[in-house]
Amino acid sequence: MNTIALVGAQWGDEGKGKIIDILAETADYVVRATGGSNAGHTVVSDGKTYKLHLIPSGILYPDTVNIIGNGVVVDPKVVLEEMDGLAKLGVKFDKLLIDLRAHVVMPYHKEIDELSEKAKGKDAIGTTKRGIGPCYADKSDRIGLRMIDLITPDVFASKLKTVLELKNKIITAVYGGTPLDYKSILDEYSAYAERLEKFCCDTGVILYDAIKANKRIVFEGAQGTLLDLDSGTYPFVTSSHPISGGFCAGAGVGPTAIKECLGIAKSYTTRVGAGPFPTELDDEVGKHLLNVGHEFGTTTGRPRRCGWLDAVILRLAVRINGLTSLAINKLDTLTGLKKLKIATHYVRDGKVVSDFPADIMLLEGCTPVYEEFDGWSEDITNAKAFDDLPKAAQRYIEAVERLAGCRVAMIGIGPDRDKNIVR
Ligand code: IMP
Repeated sequence: MNTIALVGAQWGDEGKGKIIDILAETADYVVRATGGSNAGHTVVSDGKTYKLHLIPSGILYPDTVNIIGNGVVVDPKVVLEEMDGLAKLGVKFDKLLIDLRAHVVMPYHKEIDELSEKAKGKDAIGTTKRGIGPCYADKSDRIGLRMIDLITPDVFASKLKTVLELKNKIITAVYGGTPLDYKSILDEYSAYAERLEKFCCDTGVILYDAIKANKRIVFEGAQGTLLDLDSGTYPFVTSSHPISGGFCAGAGVGPTAIKECLGIAKSYTTRVGAGPFPTELDDEVGKHLLNVGHEFGTTTGRPRRCGWLDAVILRLAVRINGLTSLAINKLDTLTGLKKLKIATHYVRDGKVVSDFPADIMLLEGCTPVYEEFDGWSEDITNAKAFDDLPKAAQRYIEAVERLAGCRVAMIGIGPDRDKNIVR
């Protein structure tokens, strides 16, 4: 079998786009299985910058089939805007497929996301306000609209009427907002449906045949392990399962369909939105990571919170995703820091905590315990092999392997796709 899943090993934004782009070049299929337009991948290739939210990264290769699986929540407006932007850069969409079962993000989802965040006040999650949570909530509540509904005009008109009546009651009576207009949504989304219909099909069947034919398939993760609805820092999580297990449900394949699982982490840690973050740095090192690492969100532009690498998190990612190897990105961002630290475990109430706590209240009481390393000042961005790296950088990577309990197979040393050491 020739399948690999790429999964974020931290809180998202680990630089998955670059690694996916590298693997996509030789992939027959690239599959998105979870999340929606809350994700943002930046791929830099041939001097051009491609910003992807919903479209799988394989789209940059003309022979690769790109699948948006049933577990993705599709915002038709965003996906079409994204396609129009990519088309201007010469990208073609004749190998793009969207699953008929994928749920549709509607304007009332975005409205309710916004209103409910505002109503939560200081307890707001800090969502991307892309309607992700409300859309998945409707899916679970079995009142969601799927792509098959969107592209079937009479079904769409009727389902939209029923659901919008309910949503408008929530928008007005619960949140004191302004009701949305049925006719204008119907017209706008019917036009989107006409453009998207030709891409829609049962992608699970296509993938099943591809796996049997031993095609090379890359499952492209969005977000990261700590944003997982079950295993992440609940409630400061997204509403899907961005872990390898989630890819099975979200792509419509069985667990035995995924042979390898590559976890992507940065050489430090970042997170956006609210919630506990044990190794967060509010000092000069934090500023260095923010500015040198250009840590501003692709989707929202928000500055990301930055901190030291946390091996407790990496061990969680190794365990939950069944990682077979790790890619450590942005090692070059650490260049110039005199001392480096990795959290090996936490201490809470005088007791050692080695496994990531189930509850954020417990996590909030945890103090990280660090192992310290010498930094390096040499430019590492032209290294071609592990041995080209300064000894201090080699020791740092070896420590990551030891503390995470997983082999580091790739090391990112710059934004371009060739700035990547394969071991
Ligand atoms: P939502 O997915 O928009 O509902 O946001 C829920 C939480 O997940 C918030 O803390 C977001 O900042 C975070 N989040 C969602 N998508 C991403 C991502 O692609 N990268 C990093 N954080 C994300």
